[in-house]
Amino acid sequence: MAELLRVEGVVKRFGGITALDGVSLSIEQGELMAIIGPNGSGKTTLFNVINGVLKPDAGKIVFEGRDITGLPPYKRVALGIARTFQIPKPWPNLTVRENVAIGALFGSMQGRIGAREALEIADEILEIVGLSGKAEVEAGKLTVPEKKVLELARAIAMRPKLLMLDEVVAGMSPKDADRIVDVVKKIRDEYNISVVSLVEHVMRVVTKFAERVVVMHQGRVIREGPPEEVLRDPLVQRVYLGGAL
Ligand SMILES: Nc1ncnc2c1ncn2[C@@H]1O[C@H](COP(=O)(O)OP(=O)(O)O)[C@@H](O)[C@H]1O
Ligand SMILES: [Mg+2]
Repeated sequence: MAELLRVEGVVKRFGGITALDGVSLSIEQGELMAIIGPNGSGKTTLFNVINGVLKPDAGKIVFEGRDITGLPPYKRVALGIARTFQIPKPWPNLTVRENVAIGALFGSMQGRIGAREALEIADEILEIVGLSGKAEVEAGKLTVPEKKVLELARAIAMRPKLLMLDEVVAGMSPKDADRIVDVVKKIRDEYNISVVSLVEHVMRVVTKFAERVVVMHQGRVIREGPPEEVLRDPLVQRVYLGGAL
Protein backbone atom coordinates (compact mmCIF):
# COMPACT_ATOMS: atom_id res chain seq x y z
CA MET A 1 0.00 0.00 0.00
CA ALA A 2 1.14 3.53 -0.71
CA GLU A 3 1.27 6.21 1.94
CA LEU A 4 -1.45 8.84 1.64
CA LEU A 5 -0.93 11.01 4.70
CA ARG A 6 1.96 11.47 7.07
CA VAL A 7 1.94 13.43 10.32
CA GLU A 8 5.47 14.23 11.45
CA GLY A 9 6.36 15.32 14.98
CA VAL A 10 3.33 17.53 15.39
CA VAL A 11 3.17 19.74 18.47
CA LYS A 12 0.14 21.87 19.34
CA ARG A 13 -0.14 24.00 22.45
CA PHE A 14 -3.05 25.95 23.86
CA GLY A 15 -1.53 28.39 26.35
CA GLY A 16 0.15 26.19 28.94
CA ILE A 17 -1.49 22.97 27.70
CA THR A 18 0.37 20.75 25.26
CA ALA A 19 -2.50 19.08 23.42
CA LEU A 20 -0.20 17.32 20.94
CA ASP A 21 3.26 16.46 22.12
CA GLY A 22 5.16 15.22 19.08
CA VAL A 23 2.65 13.07 17.20
CA SER A 24 3.79 11.06 14.20
CA LEU A 25 1.70 8.62 12.22
CA SER A 26 0.88 7.70 8.66
CA ILE A 27 -2.20 6.53 6.78
CA GLU A 28 -2.05 4.23 3.77
CA GLN A 29 -4.25 4.45 0.71
CA GLY A 30 -7.52 2.64 1.28
CA GLU A 31 -6.83 2.03 4.95
CA LEU A 32 -9.48 2.06 7.69
CA MET A 33 -7.98 3.56 10.81
CA ALA A 34 -9.43 4.48 14.19
CA ILE A 35 -7.93 6.97 16.60
CA ILE A 36 -8.95 6.24 20.18
CA GLY A 37 -7.96 7.56 23.58
CA PRO A 38 -9.44 8.99 26.76
CA ASN A 39 -11.08 12.39 26.90
CA GLY A 40 -8.54 15.16 26.54
CA SER A 41 -5.88 12.94 24.97
CA GLY A 42 -5.66 15.13 21.84
CA LYS A 43 -7.80 13.28 19.29
CA THR A 44 -9.88 16.25 18.16
CA THR A 45 -6.83 18.50 18.08
CA LEU A 46 -5.01 16.01 15.86
CA PHE A 47 -8.06 15.78 13.62
CA ASN A 48 -8.13 19.57 13.27
CA VAL A 49 -4.42 19.81 12.57
CA ILE A 50 -4.85 17.28 9.75
CA ASN A 51 -7.83 19.05 8.18
CA GLY A 52 -6.23 22.46 8.60
CA VAL A 53 -8.56 24.07 11.12
CA LEU A 54 -5.56 24.35 13.48
CA LYS A 55 -1.94 25.14 12.64
CA PRO A 56 0.64 23.10 14.54
CA ASP A 57 3.36 24.85 16.56
CA ALA A 58 5.89 22.35 15.25
CA GLY A 59 5.99 19.41 12.86
CA LYS A 60 4.34 18.92 9.51
CA ILE A 61 1.50 17.31 7.59
CA VAL A 62 2.38 15.62 4.30
CA PHE A 63 -0.38 14.56 1.89
CA GLU A 64 0.54 12.54 -1.20
CA GLY A 65 4.15 13.53 -0.70
CA ARG A 66 3.38 17.24 -0.51
CA ASP A 67 3.84 19.42 2.59
CA ILE A 68 0.38 20.88 3.27
CA THR A 69 1.08 22.25 6.77
CA GLY A 70 0.46 25.83 5.65
CA LEU A 71 -2.68 25.20 3.60
CA PRO A 72 -6.10 26.40 4.79
CA PRO A 73 -8.94 23.85 5.13
CA TYR A 74 -10.64 24.65 1.80
CA LYS A 75 -7.46 23.97 -0.12
CA ARG A 76 -7.10 20.63 1.66
CA VAL A 77 -10.68 19.81 0.64
CA ALA A 78 -9.72 20.53 -2.96
CA LEU A 79 -6.78 18.11 -2.59
CA GLY A 80 -9.11 15.40 -1.31
CA ILE A 81 -9.39 15.66 2.47
CA ALA A 82 -13.02 15.62 3.63
CA ARG A 83 -14.49 15.45 7.09
CA THR A 84 -17.78 14.91 8.83
CA PHE A 85 -19.02 16.80 11.86
CA GLN A 86 -20.03 15.12 15.10
CA ILE A 87 -23.35 16.93 14.97
CA PRO A 88 -24.57 16.93 11.37
CA LYS A 89 -26.04 20.23 10.21
CA PRO A 90 -27.59 19.64 6.80
CA TRP A 91 -29.40 22.44 4.98
CA PRO A 92 -32.79 21.58 6.52
CA ASN A 93 -34.99 23.02 3.78
CA LEU A 94 -33.12 21.44 0.90
CA THR A 95 -33.75 17.87 -0.11
CA VAL A 96 -31.42 15.04 0.80
CA ARG A 97 -30.38 14.86 -2.84
CA GLU A 98 -29.60 18.59 -2.99
CA ASN A 99 -27.59 18.40 0.22
CA VAL A 100 -25.40 15.67 -1.23
CA ALA A 101 -25.07 17.55 -4.53
CA ILE A 102 -23.71 20.55 -2.62
CA GLY A 103 -21.01 18.27 -1.25
CA ALA A 104 -20.06 17.34 -4.81
CA LEU A 105 -19.98 20.99 -5.92
CA PHE A 106 -17.66 22.04 -3.10
CA GLY A 107 -15.45 18.97 -2.91
CA SER A 108 -12.35 17.92 -4.78
CA MET A 109 -14.18 18.45 -8.10
CA GLN A 110 -15.08 22.07 -7.30
CA GLY A 111 -15.18 24.27 -10.39
CA ARG A 112 -15.09 21.24 -12.69
CA ILE A 113 -18.70 20.04 -12.47
CA GLY A 114 -22.07 21.72 -12.77
CA ALA A 115 -25.36 21.26 -10.96
CA ARG A 116 -26.65 18.50 -13.21
CA GLU A 117 -23.54 16.38 -12.76
CA ALA A 118 -23.55 17.06 -9.02
CA LEU A 119 -27.11 15.75 -8.78
CA GLU A 120 -26.11 12.62 -10.72
CA ILE A 121 -23.25 12.04 -8.30
CA ALA A 122 -25.69 12.55 -5.42
CA ASP A 123 -28.01 9.86 -6.80
CA GLU A 124 -25.14 7.41 -7.18
CA ILE A 125 -23.98 7.97 -3.62
CA LEU A 126 -27.45 7.87 -2.10
CA GLU A 127 -27.83 4.46 -3.73
CA ILE A 128 -24.60 3.23 -2.17
CA VAL A 129 -25.46 4.48 1.33
CA GLY A 130 -29.03 3.19 1.11
CA LEU A 131 -30.75 6.57 1.29
CA SER A 132 -32.25 6.70 -2.21
CA GLY A 133 -35.75 6.32 -0.83
CA LYS A 134 -35.35 9.65 0.99
CA ALA A 135 -33.75 11.58 -1.89
CA GLU A 136 -36.62 14.04 -2.26
CA VAL A 137 -37.30 14.47 1.46
CA GLU A 138 -36.27 17.71 3.14
CA ALA A 139 -33.12 17.01 5.13
CA GLY A 140 -34.54 18.60 8.27
CA LYS A 141 -37.17 15.83 8.38
CA LEU A 142 -34.69 12.94 8.65
CA THR A 143 -34.17 10.97 11.85
CA VAL A 144 -30.88 11.48 13.68
CA PRO A 145 -29.25 8.27 12.33
CA GLU A 146 -30.45 9.19 8.82
CA LYS A 147 -28.83 12.60 9.23
CA LYS A 148 -25.58 10.84 10.09
CA VAL A 149 -25.83 8.78 6.92
CA LEU A 150 -26.57 11.97 4.98
CA GLU A 151 -23.52 13.60 6.54
CA LEU A 152 -21.46 10.64 5.32
CA ALA A 153 -23.00 10.87 1.85
CA ARG A 154 -22.24 14.58 1.68
CA ALA A 155 -18.60 13.93 2.60
CA ILE A 156 -18.30 11.10 0.07
CA ALA A 157 -19.75 13.33 -2.63
CA MET A 158 -16.69 15.52 -2.15
CA ARG A 159 -14.78 12.60 -3.69
CA PRO A 160 -12.09 12.63 -1.04
CA LYS A 161 -8.99 10.48 -0.93
CA LEU A 162 -9.05 10.80 2.84
CA LEU A 163 -12.32 10.78 4.74
CA MET A 164 -12.16 11.91 8.36
CA LEU A 165 -15.03 10.88 10.59
CA ASP A 166 -15.63 12.67 13.86
CA GLU A 167 -17.34 10.37 16.34
CA VAL A 168 -19.71 9.19 13.70
CA VAL A 169 -21.38 6.49 15.79
CA ALA A 170 -21.47 8.34 19.12
CA GLY A 171 -24.82 7.93 20.83
CA MET A 172 -26.20 5.52 18.24
CA SER A 173 -27.96 2.24 18.85
CA PRO A 174 -25.82 -0.84 18.03
CA LYS A 175 -28.00 -1.46 14.98
CA ASP A 176 -27.55 2.06 13.60
CA ALA A 177 -23.83 2.00 14.41
CA ASP A 178 -23.47 -1.26 12.50
CA ARG A 179 -25.23 0.27 9.53
CA ILE A 180 -22.80 3.20 9.51
CA VAL A 181 -19.81 0.86 9.73
CA ASP A 182 -21.16 -1.18 6.82
CA VAL A 183 -21.69 1.97 4.76
CA VAL A 184 -18.16 3.21 5.46
CA LYS A 185 -16.65 -0.14 4.47
CA LYS A 186 -18.69 -0.23 1.29
CA ILE A 187 -17.49 3.25 0.38
CA ARG A 188 -13.90 2.28 1.00
CA ASP A 189 -14.32 -0.76 -1.22
CA GLU A 190 -16.07 1.24 -3.93
CA TYR A 191 -13.77 4.27 -4.07
CA ASN A 192 -10.56 3.11 -2.32
CA ILE A 193 -10.88 6.01 0.10
CA SER A 194 -8.77 6.02 3.27
CA VAL A 195 -10.87 6.54 6.37
CA VAL A 196 -9.76 7.87 9.73
CA SER A 197 -12.32 7.80 12.47
CA LEU A 198 -12.26 9.24 15.95
CA VAL A 199 -13.93 6.87 18.36
CA GLU A 200 -14.34 7.78 21.98
CA HIS A 201 -16.08 4.89 23.66
CA VAL A 202 -17.51 2.25 21.37
CA MET A 203 -14.89 -0.49 21.36
CA ARG A 204 -17.13 -2.94 19.55
CA VAL A 205 -17.21 -0.53 16.61
CA VAL A 206 -13.44 -0.09 16.70
CA THR A 207 -12.99 -3.83 16.35
CA LYS A 208 -15.54 -4.08 13.59
CA PHE A 209 -14.42 -1.06 11.61
CA ALA A 210 -10.69 -0.52 11.96
CA GLU A 211 -7.81 -2.35 10.34
CA ARG A 212 -5.45 -0.34 12.51
CA VAL A 213 -5.94 1.49 15.77
CA VAL A 214 -3.88 4.38 17.05
CA VAL A 215 -4.15 5.03 20.79
CA MET A 216 -3.54 8.51 22.13
CA HIS A 217 -2.79 9.47 25.70
CA GLN A 218 -1.77 12.92 26.94
CA GLY A 219 -1.00 14.21 23.48
CA ARG A 220 1.10 11.26 22.37
CA VAL A 221 0.59 8.10 20.39
CA ILE A 222 1.18 5.33 22.92
CA ARG A 223 0.29 2.28 20.82
CA GLU A 224 -0.75 1.38 17.30
CA GLY A 225 -1.60 -1.86 15.55
CA PRO A 226 -4.46 -4.24 14.76
CA PRO A 227 -7.49 -3.70 17.03
CA GLU A 228 -7.47 -7.13 18.71
CA GLU A 229 -3.83 -6.72 19.67
CA VAL A 230 -3.99 -3.07 20.73
CA LEU A 231 -7.16 -3.37 22.81
CA ARG A 232 -5.64 -6.29 24.73
CA ASP A 233 -2.46 -4.37 25.49
CA PRO A 234 -2.01 -3.91 29.27
CA LEU A 235 -0.95 -0.25 28.94
CA VAL A 236 -3.98 0.56 26.78
CA GLN A 237 -6.23 -1.24 29.22
CA ARG A 238 -4.80 0.72 32.12
CA VAL A 239 -4.85 4.25 30.67
CA TYR A 240 -7.98 3.96 28.65
CA LEU A 241 -10.23 1.04 29.18
CA GLY A 242 -9.74 0.74 32.92
CA GLY A 243 -9.52 -3.02 32.49
CA ALA A 244 -12.99 -3.08 30.95
CA LEU A 245 -12.19 -5.74 28.33
N1 LIG B 1 -9.29 25.44 21.80
C1 LIG B 1 -8.70 25.01 22.92
N2 LIG B 1 -8.24 25.86 23.87
C2 LIG B 1 -7.62 25.43 24.96
N3 LIG B 1 -7.40 24.14 25.26
C3 LIG B 1 -7.83 23.22 24.36
C4 LIG B 1 -8.50 23.60 23.16
N4 LIG B 1 -8.80 22.47 22.47
C5 LIG B 1 -8.35 21.44 23.21
N5 LIG B 1 -7.77 21.89 24.34
C6 LIG B 1 -7.12 21.05 25.37
O1 LIG B 1 -6.22 20.19 24.69
C7 LIG B 1 -6.27 18.88 25.25
C8 LIG B 1 -6.68 17.87 24.16
O2 LIG B 1 -8.04 18.10 23.82
P1 LIG B 1 -8.79 17.34 22.65
O3 LIG B 1 -7.94 17.35 21.44
O4 LIG B 1 -10.14 17.92 22.53
O5 LIG B 1 -8.88 15.86 23.22
P2 LIG B 1 -9.89 14.67 22.86
O6 LIG B 1 -10.53 14.98 21.56
O7 LIG B 1 -9.04 13.45 22.83
O8 LIG B 1 -10.89 14.62 23.97
C9 LIG B 1 -7.22 18.94 26.42
O9 LIG B 1 -6.46 19.19 27.59
C10 LIG B 1 -8.09 20.12 26.08
O10 LIG B 1 -8.60 20.73 27.25
MG1 LIG C 1 -12.60 15.07 21.08
